[in-house]
Amino acid sequence: MIVRDAVVSDAADLLAIHNEAVRTTTAIWDEDEVDLADRTAWLDGRLTAGLPVLVAEVGGRVVGYASYGPWRPRSGYRHTVENALYVLASHHGRGLASLLMDALVARARRDGPHRMVAMIESGNTVSIDLHVRRGYRTVGHLPEVGRKFDRWLDLTILQLDLH
Ligand SMILES: CC(C)(COP(=O)(O)OP(=O)(O)OC[C@H]1O[C@@H](n2cnc3c(N)ncnc32)[C@H](O)[C@@H]1OP(=O)(O)O)[C@@H](O)C(=O)NCCC(=O)NCCS
Repeated sequence: MIVRDAVVSDAADLLAIHNEAVRTTTAIWDEDEVDLADRTAWLDGRLTAGLPVLVAEVGGRVVGYASYGPWRPRSGYRHTVENALYVLASHHGRGLASLLMDALVARARRDGPHRMVAMIESGNTVSIDLHVRRGYRTVGHLPEVGRKFDRWLDLTILQLDLH
């Protein structure tokens, strides 16, 4: 297994990871799967902006990724980024997310954002615990602000102080 920077040709594997999360999890609050053009545009946009997209590759296939990008569009928020972290279900529990998150935080500390936030569905205790173990603090809880799979979703907001 290696963790490396993504290249544009990883878009197809990133598509599979994204759409699995749409279909089967409350990590992405979207019911609609996307196509390759969508993920290619997303990846190209991040890389062009100099934002990190780190991937975990196993046996020549990308099975997980971590990234960060702008949190909110207004210029006053430009020193805060929001993270994203996904691993294919077939590869859960092998330490991939932990490696990806450590690499992402190291990149953020190198590249300069001031704060990193994570917006996580409150029932996702595996992800929340993973963040807390890395120094993120829970700073907010928004009850029933989302809906998926015919139920309300709470949002937990965590923050990591980088600089
Ligand atoms: C959350 C997620 C990224 C974790 O990925 P992962 O590669 O399985 O995580 P790791 O193997 O690095 O494990 C991280 C920790 O969680 C624990 N863990 C992993 N899966 C677990 C499970 N199903 N139940 C309980 N603990 C679990 C591990 O033991 C590990 O604990 P440790 O740090 O004390 O050793 C992954 O489950 C995922 O992609 N889920 C869907 C998308 C998602 O929720 N993304 C994050 C939302 S923002």
